Amino acid sequence: MTTATDAAGQAPAPGPAETRTPILRARRLVKTFGRVVGLDGVSLELYPGEVLAIIGDNGAGKSTLIKCLTGAEIPDEGELFLDEKPVHFKRPQDARAAGIETVYQNLAVSPALDVAANLFLGREERKRGILGSVFRVVDQKGMREKARNELKALGISTLQDVTVPVENLSGGQRQAVAVARAAAFGSKVVVLDEPTAALGVRESNQVLELIRNLRDRGIPVILISHNMPHVFDVADRIHIQRLGKRAATITPESHTMTDAVAIMTGALRA
Ligand SMILES: Nc1ncnc2c1ncn2[C@@H]1O[C@H](COP(=O)(O)OP(=O)(O)OP(=O)(O)O)[C@@H](O)[C@H]1O
Ligand SMILES: [Mg+2]
Repeated sequence: MTTATDAAGQAPAPGPAETRTPILRARRLVKTFGRVVGLDGVSLELYPGEVLAIIGDNGAGKSTLIKCLTGAEIPDEGELFLDEKPVHFKRPQDARAAGIETVYQNLAVSPALDVAANLFLGREERKRGILGSVFRVVDQKGMREKARNELKALGISTLQDVTVPVENLSGGQRQAVAVARAAAFGSKVVVLDEPTAALGVRESNQVLELIRNLRDRGIPVILISHNMPHVFDVADRIHIQRLGKRAATITPESHTMTDAVAIMTGALRA
């Protein structure tokens, strides 16, 4: 990783001195549900080469924020910029086509299909020539080969056989397939919603390692998590949501976990 750390390896503190250009920027997003205010003027910046965690209490607006960034919800007000260009996502496919891949916790993979088929789901490659162009025959061999290479490049070593149905994999391996899928198609941004929530210690560590690998390959990651140790382990910066607003953006260097929880609950003002 290069851009998010200085020579001493410390993530630079956010603030007025920030001169980098964000890959993804949200400005003053508002989203209401009837009388409930889900987002109350939230801004967010995601910089190249970083892992940005989003934390906050239940109902703080984390999921709503992610949904507005990934086309699953349309904000009532506010602006969204990808590479400094305004974007208006109407549905998740729009965000995906623009390079924002979201890994939802449960619907990320199709259980009955094998690993390679999951990686290429919705983007199947056809055989060359008339077989592919006219008869739409999928290039299974080619996709399996690419799937193996992709998993290898991401350092996913626990998944040897790409022909195994995903339903036979462990939770961590499934999550790995979902992340690999997001990484495999030249995504600009990967968004992970609670990727370690249902996983054991070993599997969680594998997913955290995968997140670092993604970042080190130049793909910035937005990670929603309730797990403070995981957040402080992997995040370069931490966006704290509270009551529909951004309460603060901190770093693991600038604040402790106790501080973060205090900001989340309103006990500490950042
Ligand atoms: N579709 C919806 N209809 C009505 N209210 C909603 C809807 N989606 C979210 N809300 C409300 O918006 C607020 C923010 O919800 P959101 O799901 O973004 O919180 P969250 O931070 O993801 O919480 P959690 O940690 O519990 O997942 C809450 O008050 C919630 O009840
Ligand atoms: Mg949520």
